[in-house]
Amino acid sequence: MPVTALENESLPPGPYPLFEKWHRAAEAQAGIPYAGAMTLSTVSADGFPEGRVVLLHAAEAGRGFAFLTDARSRKGRALAKVPRAALTFYWGPLERQVRVQGRVACASSATADRFFARRPRRSRAVAWAATQSRPLPSGPATDALKERVAALDERFSERATIPRPPYWQAYWVRPRCVAFWEAKARRLHTRVRYDRDEKSSAGWRVCRPAP
Ligand SMILES: Cc1cc2nc3c(=O)[nH]c(=O)nc-3n(C[C@H](O)[C@H](O)[C@H](O)COP(=O)(O)O)c2cc1C
Repeated sequence: MPVTALENESLPPGPYPLFEKWHRAAEAQAGIPYAGAMTLSTVSADGFPEGRVVLLHAAEAGRGFAFLTDARSRKGRALAKVPRAALTFYWGPLERQVRVQGRVACASSATADRFFARRPRRSRAVAWAATQSRPLPSGPATDALKERVAALDERFSERATIPRPPYWQAYWVRPRCVAFWEAKARRLHTRVRYDRDEKSSAGWRVCRPAP
């Protein structure tokens, strides 16, 4: 059970301290394999939303929430046309959800390099071997891909590290809203919502919406 229930939490003026606290609690919680897993929802040019899970790489006040992906993927192409997104975290064992909504901006190459270096070596080789989201050549897909990954392993075998392919980019979701939800007995769930408000001194307006 959460150490401090959201209803008793003294709310900081901005959302990041609470997010960090919840994220850390999720990382420490057995039974949550990827505490940084979040559903990234994008919108296609014709207005259809699409979600998929990606990993959080950073959450920083002033910058936002960062992820890393293949810019040529479906999500990358959607973001190039409509640079707006939503993120949804769900930490089941803690009965907590966090939602983020905002505009999306590309991060610097140095930031993308830093995030890419965190990926396991095999994931880095796959990033070179495949165009994410594109259909694989006909025949047993995994065989074709395995051959390409093996060839890339060979190509990079002399190098201590596998560099970032230029099309793997990092993105910041700059939140206009961050909303927290925590389950409570008898369905009286607790919610806290931060909305960006340039006029307020903290830069955020905070409220407690009904469950
Ligand atoms: C736990 C988990 C973590 C993932 N992390 C990432 C990630 O950080 N970046 C990424 O591009 N795809 C990640 N994926 C794969 C995506 O869900 C998705 O299949 C892929 O990015 C292609 O999506 P798209 O075709 O909509 O662009 C992850 C999947 C799971 C289940």
